[in-house]
Amino acid sequence: MTIIVTGGAGFIGSNFVFHMLRAHPEDRIVCLDKLTYAGNLTTLAPVMEMENFRFVKGDICDREAVFSLFAEERPDVVVNFAAESHVDRSIEDPGVFLRTNILGTQALMDASRQYGVKRYHQVSTDEVYGDLPLDRPDLFFTEETPIHTSSPYSASKASADLLVMAYHRTYGLPATISRCSNNYGPYHFPEKLIPLMIINCLNDRPLPVYGTGENVRDWLYVEDHCKAIDLILQQGRVGEVYNIGGHNEMRNIDIVRLICKALGKPESLITYVTDRKGHDLRYAIDPTKIHKELGWLPETKFADGIQKTIQWYLENREWWEAIVSGEYQNYYERMYAGR
Ligand code: NAD
Ligand code: TYD
Repeated sequence: MTIIVTGGAGFIGSNFVFHMLRAHPEDRIVCLDKLTYAGNLTTLAPVMEMENFRFVKGDICDREAVFSLFAEERPDVVVNFAAESHVDRSIEDPGVFLRTNILGTQALMDASRQYGVKRYHQVSTDEVYGDLPLDRPDLFFTEETPIHTSSPYSASKASADLLVMAYHRTYGLPATISRCSNNYGPYHFPEKLIPLMIINCLNDRPLPVYGTGENVRDWLYVEDHCKAIDLILQQGRVGEVYNIGGHNEMRNIDIVRLICKALGKPESLITYVTDRKGHDLRYAIDPTKIHKELGWLPETKFADGIQKTIQWYLENREWWEAIVSGEYQNYYERMYAGR
């Protein structure tokens, strides 16, 4: 099988590429990635020379490039990770989110139709469901929860999901969608909460907690997400949405404290800063459907996953130092100065 993985130079996409090359050595993986600020070719260095792996630099919105890649590779499966993925950046500048996340998805689906792709999988997010109140721990997102978005990021992802369902119904595109909770693990770009806090701790820099730090996220180790998508590709029913999450809700402030403790840094580094606009309060996934239908369960407990992740950042300083010292520095100044 030939599988086109878009966004494979990013956080989850690269972990998925590694997972697939390990789990299915008979398949050919073609990674299509624009290498935006979030894409990093050094991440893929260990697989670049493999015979059943090909990297192609390209934009999923560039229809000509997408169609010619499909004509050349004739993929059986397409897994779309490529996206603008950071809520704070979407608040600063929504335009590129709409372009990549919606029009890019359209281009990939049009090419998938034209070249008879057997499965198009859209990697979506639990953020399409909006948020849950903090005082209702009995509530969870199911696949039936109405779409109700808060940020330009989540609105763009929800728009893409609606288009995917429309292509399935109207054109019979054999599509599936997964909506996962917050991931953490190796190769996570340092603008996101967990890597940002680990790196700031290591550099003895302030740890900027938005608002009161009481917002809750449902964390999943990235490898568990990759395994769930692999399972959906093999056994998922077309036209279906699968929520992915492992019942691991944590308050932001507790995560930050845990990272301080693990790295032996004082909690006095914690600095409360102005809240994010429209900040979602709580995300929590009900994974009953994927568990019952496909037998998926998360394998990595948070206590182990966070230790592995911290260890990875300790052992891979050159990976993140290259990012933190580059263009990303400008973003950091813009986002956090005077906040
Ligand atoms: P990321 O920002 O780390 O990586 C995104 C990748 O997409 C980068 O390699 C980037 O270069 C590439 N890309 C961006 N625009 C592109 C374009 N126009 N054409 C081709 N490539 C492009 O993101 P991530 O955290 O790995 O997320 C991957 C996917 O998973 C996204 O669709 C995101 O919405 C979804 N998701 C993420 C999380 C999470 O916790 N990170 C949770 C649920 C779902
Ligand atoms: P983030 O990693 O951006 O993921 P998302 O917003 O998609 O869930 O943020 C996770 C949580 O951490 C979110 O509630 C915002 C909060 N946060 C901070 O408190 N400080 C920070 O510097 C960042 C980046 C996030």
